[in-house]
Amino acid sequence: MRLSPRVAAAALTLVVASCATAGTAGDRMFDHFTRASSVQSALIVGDVDGARRPASWLAEHDAVATTAPGDRGWIDALRTASVEIRDATSVDEAADATGRLARSCAGCHTSSNAGPRFRPAGEPPEGDDRSSHMTRNLWAMDRMWEGLIGASSDTWEAGARAIADEEPESFSGGSAVAALARAIHEQATRAERTPTGNRAEVYADLLKTCAGCHTLVGAGAD
Ligand code: HEC
Ligand code: HEC
Repeated sequence: MRLSPRVAAAALTLVVASCATAGTAGDRMFDHFTRASSVQSALIVGDVDGARRPASWLAEHDAVATTAPGDRGWIDALRTASVEIRDATSVDEAADATGRLARSCAGCHTSSNAGPRFRPAGEPPEGDDRSSHMTRNLWAMDRMWEGLIGASSDTWEAGARAIADEEPESFSGGSAVAALARAIHEQATRAERTPTGNRAEVYADLLKTCAGCHTLVGAGAD
């Protein structure tokens, strides 16, 4: 699996940046964030099996010790989505469930008026070769993920824009690959304008396109 170390490293930097303080609820959230990021990284490379283990952890551990009745619904939604990822029979199923997972994180953060405060998105990494292009794609997906779970439109839009603003890459690997290069561009362009309530599905569709192309070109899971 060629992509994984790079993808995992990028996800980890993020975790450290996101959780400044250590407290009981914060620590537990840190664990959830790490597992949810592992699900995301595995699915980007089309590796459903790699997503199963962090998903079953999420299914078995409560996000927060809570007695608030409003929170219970989000905890249940988080668990249901995690079970669906764990038991998914395709990347598409797992990606859809990952969208629902993100929605449960965001739902509780919004309703309890708590949750992560991510650093401002900053500028996407530059460069024109394929590797830079892909690093930028990863940066974009991480920002959209943060924007989703932290319910921040600025961060979400910065991520979507990073892909929307670049020319679709030209690929010599056949028309299916070229179509996916255009698809990711078009999806990101739509994502930039997608209202909060529909972002989880849009995120899931982007994830499917990353996974689909990596599987097709053989750069993903072996
Ligand atoms: C049932 C409610 C609930 C659910 C579900 C939930 N969170 Fe949280 N989250 C919280 C609360 C409350 C805080 C604030 C905790 C604190 O400040 O100590 C928080 C804080 C965070 C933080 C910041 C932690 C820090 O130390 O700064 C991150 C990151 C986070 N959540 C990620 C997630 C992810 C990822 C998910 C979904 C997989 C999720 N949360 C699901 C309630 C929830
Ligand atoms: C149209 C096809 C295609 C799409 C769509 C695509 N990729 Fe890639 N990706 C590739 C190819 C081909 C490589 C292998 C590049 C190489 O030769 O190292 C790659 C490699 C990568 C790498 C490893 C780069 C490196 O230099 O280590 C990352 C990270 C990555 N892609 C992220 C993403 C993300 C995130 C998405 C979705 C937003 C995405 N890619 C969408 C084709 C694609």
